[in-house]
Amino acid sequence: MRIGILGSGLMGGKLGTLFARAGHDVVFSYARSEPKLRRLAREAQGNARHGTPAEAAREADALLLAVHWSRVDDVLKQAGDLSGKVLVTCSLPMNAPSTKLVVAHTTSGAEVLAKKLPRAKVVAAFGTVPSEVLFDVFEARRKATRPSMLYCGEDAGAKQVAATLIRDVGFDPVDAGPLRIARYTEPFSLLIARLAYEGDGGPELAYRFERLGK
Ligand SMILES: NC(=O)c1ccc[n+]([C@@H]2O[C@H](COP(=O)([O-])OP(=O)(O)OC[C@H]3O[C@@H](n4cnc5c(N)ncnc54)[C@H](OP(=O)(O)O)[C@@H]3O)[C@@H](O)[C@H]2O)c1
Repeated sequence: MRIGILGSGLMGGKLGTLFARAGHDVVFSYARSEPKLRRLAREAQGNARHGTPAEAAREADALLLAVHWSRVDDVLKQAGDLSGKVLVTCSLPMNAPSTKLVVAHTTSGAEVLAKKLPRAKVVAAFGTVPSEVLFDVFEARRKATRPSMLYCGEDAGAKQVAATLIRDVGFDPVDAGPLRIARYTEPFSLLIARLAYEGDGGPELAYRFERLGK
């Protein structure tokens, strides 16, 4: 697939690199310096290049939105028309110091995003994992036991695209249902971050869903 990265920081830089290593064509966009985007593309060791958000969006089969909540409007404006595009978001609706969610319970960042972009196909994924573990998960992707990753969205085709990307990075995709489930996965992401950085487990702490009973 052709994947446009909107926000090439900790999440976008790493996920874009892994998408490229998994065989996808990747365009890194949106960082404060062009040399950084160029370096990411060079070091991805796959079919990767850098461009503007509009260039990343133009021919993309899927876009990854990975910016701080305060930058969402800016990057979307630069990306231009996203009608019909699959937009996978890991961006959590955090306040400026990233201490709390600015929307929760009755809606979610993913739903707010879908309202902003009614013609795009929004899927929430990757927000429930600390960026630090992504490379290790990718390295271990051929092991029998993979960590789970929840994703949710409305469009079946877009969700299949997201599930493919989740699998390619090394997780076991778990369809959590419609986009409104992000009301629960976004606070869950905060729990994961708290456990990772304030508990004893570190970011390597994984979650896995198992069927209980028969
Ligand atoms: N980090 C995690 O472990 C993690 C886990 C789950 C979810 N998330 C969510 O994922 C999203 C991205 O997080 P992140 O940690 O990847 O953030 P980040 O490292 O700050 O990346 C954001 C990207 O936006 C770019 N950017 C910021 N301001 C800009 C501006 N004015 N002009 C152009 N580019 C600009 C940054 O540029 P520079 O590269 O030049 O700084 C960076 O490439 C957030 O919504 C976060 O809540 C993060």
